[in-house]
Amino acid sequence: MTKRGAARARSGRPWIYRSDVAEAAGDTGDVVRVVDGGGRFLGQAFYNPKSEITLRIATREDEEINEAWFQNRLEKARSYRESLNIDASAYRLLHSEADGVPGLVADRYGDYFVLQVGSAAIERRLHWIVAALEDLFAPMGILLRGDASSRGREGLATKVEVLSGEVPDSVVVHEGPVRYRARLRGGQKTGGFLDQRENHLAAARYVERYAGGHVLDVFSYAGGFALHAARVAKTVEAVDASGPALQAARENAELNGLSNIAFTRASAFDLLRERSDAGTRYDAVILDPPAFAKTKRDLPKARRAYKEINLRAMKLLTPGGILVTCSCSYHFSRELMEETLRFAAVDAGRTVRVREWRGQAQDHPEILTVPETRYLKCAVLECP
Ligand SMILES: C[S@@+](CC[C@H](N)C(=O)[O-])C[C@H]1O[C@@H](n2cnc3c(N)ncnc32)[C@H](O)[C@@H]1O
Repeated sequence: MTKRGAARARSGRPWIYRSDVAEAAGDTGDVVRVVDGGGRFLGQAFYNPKSEITLRIATREDEEINEAWFQNRLEKARSYRESLNIDASAYRLLHSEADGVPGLVADRYGDYFVLQVGSAAIERRLHWIVAALEDLFAPMGILLRGDASSRGREGLATKVEVLSGEVPDSVVVHEGPVRYRARLRGGQKTGGFLDQRENHLAAARYVERYAGGHVLDVFSYAGGFALHAARVAKTVEAVDASGPALQAARENAELNGLSNIAFTRASAFDLLRERSDAGTRYDAVILDPPAFAKTKRDLPKARRAYKEINLRAMKLLTPGGILVTCSCSYHFSRELMEETLRFAAVDAGRTVRVREWRGQAQDHPEILTVPETRYLKCAVLECP
């Protein structure tokens, strides 16, 4: 490693960029020993010379990374999730670096697992991971969702492939009191926004205790927030730009016997502007947009977009109304989000009280020295 690379590794950063690698020997997907300029051992890493992130440090120990190593990591991930007493049949079992396995995500949907792989070294060792999952959980099937664009940066092919057993296109799972159909092959992410699980439940608690009445769920996807809110609100309107997402939301409402949700296909920006211009009011508004800032370069545009939707949402609230507003852009930091919300409140002419700042669900843990593992922000605001 270069001096800078060694310093990064010592500071707990698991990703080492190409420019920080002084010298390397090995093939794509190898596990390599990482040493500093003086030959001092820093750890073992997944090596990929094709990737900008050339080394992903998997362990700081001098241990063998074999089948038992993966089994052990999965066992630890399982006991952590067991300790959380998750009241849901769909949750994240393993969250990449935050569970000590860089480049691997494993989501559980009842009897099935869906994997996302973003590292050549993991792809080469998938048979060990599949064997460990079979041993620990005896699942009906394991699916690889290898269709994320980030795989290209690792030189990995795009594919969706059954790795074990049989996997249906979709399964019905539960999240607290709500049931929903997760589309394992064709849905966004691995089939659901599992990182929002605790926020779905929290939002419903606010709707029930502080707002009740009429709720607007913007960027609803298959109804993650809307279904929970509809159990305690008079009416909910779910808004999304995607027809298939709204069709899924409609089917999920039926699955739960909920008849108080309206589904509107629209651009969130247009709908929020129209409704606020028309003077419509809601007791709660939920905003869960896609990542507006996928890279740092997107930030100026993203800030304008976040400000616009939040400003409109604040204007839509009845006195005492609740705004649940999320951002899943890592680059749009908590500080930037706070500042943007402040500007939105000023322009909306509303006093905004902060009820709570929330993050991603606990089965998507954060590592202090890896800021990228803290990406989801969810502010619960009240306009008195
Ligand atoms: C982060 S997901 C929402 C997840 C959902 N709230 C949940 O908890 O399951 C973002 C959603 O925004 C939708 N979307 C993206 N751009 C949009 C736009 N301009 N207007 C309305 N919906 C949009 C996408 O189709 C996607 O379903």
